[in-house]
Amino acid sequence: MSSLMSFTTPTSSPPKPLSTTRLSLLTPTRPSSLTRHHSLNRSLCRLSVCCSYAEANTKENLTSLPIDVVADVKPERIVVLGGTGFVGSAICKAAVLKGIEVVSLSRSGRPSSYSDPWIDQVTWIPGDVFYANWDEVLLGSTAVVSTLGGFGSDEQMKKINGEANILAVGAAKDFGVPKFILISVHDYNLPSFLLTNGYFAGKRNAESEVLSKYTNTGVVLRPGFIYGKRKVGSYEIPLDIIGGPLERFLNAAQNFTRPLSSLPGSDLLLAPPISVDDVAFAVINAVTDDDFFGVFTIDQIKEAATKVRV
Ligand SMILES: NC(=O)c1ccc[n+]([C@@H]2O[C@H](COP(=O)([O-])OP(=O)(O)OC[C@H]3O[C@@H](n4cnc5c(N)ncnc54)[C@H](OP(=O)(O)O)[C@@H]3O)[C@@H](O)[C@H]2O)c1
Repeated sequence: MSSLMSFTTPTSSPPKPLSTTRLSLLTPTRPSSLTRHHSLNRSLCRLSVCCSYAEANTKENLTSLPIDVVADVKPERIVVLGGTGFVGSAICKAAVLKGIEVVSLSRSGRPSSYSDPWIDQVTWIPGDVFYANWDEVLLGSTAVVSTLGGFGSDEQMKKINGEANILAVGAAKDFGVPKFILISVHDYNLPSFLLTNGYFAGKRNAESEVLSKYTNTGVVLRPGFIYGKRKVGSYEIPLDIIGGPLERFLNAAQNFTRPLSSLPGSDLLLAPPISVDDVAFAVINAVTDDDFFGVFTIDQIKEAATKVRV
């Protein structure tokens, strides 16, 4: 989160902060409807901070005159494309927990099969990305996170992994959204002729679009197998029962398996799985850290997740 600070009462020598600092939040209050986002549209909220300072080379003096510090703090508002999906819902949940405002766009809209408390904090917009009303979806957003992707015929895979994301990147760029984060996929060290199928080709086309339109802010995450509790209707598939132990085993065996990584396709067996929460936290890191952009491997996603995981 970026902030600008101005000291309105400078002291004659460099001020020395005391341990007691009073903070008073004047704004922001969380808007609860799209109409109220109008007022927040890419603007900065004012945060007033009142601190006590002592002159340098003097003893701490709690009666020193307080000075006012005015800080402008940018509120984050992210749009998750596919917020109802396995990865998308983990991102929505993590963002809500971090106090980030969240909008989700997916054909199914608000999830009806489960009712965790964070769900009420997300604005669920039902709609198909190919026919979206982008003015409504993107209004006031500081980042778009796309989890759009899937399997099917070659044609379908090119469409949802490639074209849908390319369309979304263009819409976000035209609307002036400053950051785009794409959930892509690891290439599993596959030979190039296998990477021409609709799934991988679509992903790589989408990546190129993000990186060319968002040169200094675009983020591409390339996870391998993602585990967690995948909800299918009212059922839950506990992928973590396999994924967790497998991740630990492959991490422990890395020294032995590394020589095999030059073999084509070896990563189908050796690429470590990653938890859906780690992917979600890496996204939160990407949203809040303006120095985080480019293409990120499985290990780098895990590293980014540790920066925001509590
Ligand atoms: N799961 C993994 O192990 C894994 C591994 C590596 C990479 N990935 C990538 O991670 C991303 C997320 O995967 P996932 O497992 O979370 O997929 P998922 O559960 O199938 O979620 C996909 C989301 O996209 C939405 N969606 C699909 N078509 C749409 C459209 N035309 N318009 C609007 N929304 C649409 C779906 O909602 P509706 O159907 O309601 O529209 C859903 O919310 C994908 O890009 C995938 O390739 C996944």
